[in-house]
Amino acid sequence: MPKVTFLPSGTVVEVEDDYNLLDAALDNNVQIDHNCGGNCACSTCHVIIEKGIETTGEKSEDEEDMLDEAENLTENSRLACQCTVTADLVVKIPSKDSEWKDDTF
Ligand code: FES
Repeated sequence: MPKVTFLPSGTVVEVEDDYNLLDAALDNNVQIDHNCGGNCACSTCHVIIEKGIETTGEKSEDEEDMLDEAENLTENSRLACQCTVTADLVVKIPSKDSEWKDDTF
């Protein structure tokens, strides 16, 4: 079974093959915001895949559009609700601290 390591907590969970990444987190008490309930209609479940990005499949156009709204976007950014776990992953949950940073500009 694939293992997912969530950062920054370092929590490691094992999940069934083809399991949804957001569900893997929530089932194991790892908090990832998910305002739209996993329907690819927000960007609150944004995560950064630090290892294993090549196993998470292609992003849909809808996911790309939603990611454009995400804070701290990187080339390894994904929406957790749109990712399927097929191999070991290291997943960073970005902090949502840019609101106060924006005030400094
Ligand atoms: S929970 Fe809204 S896009 Fe994933």
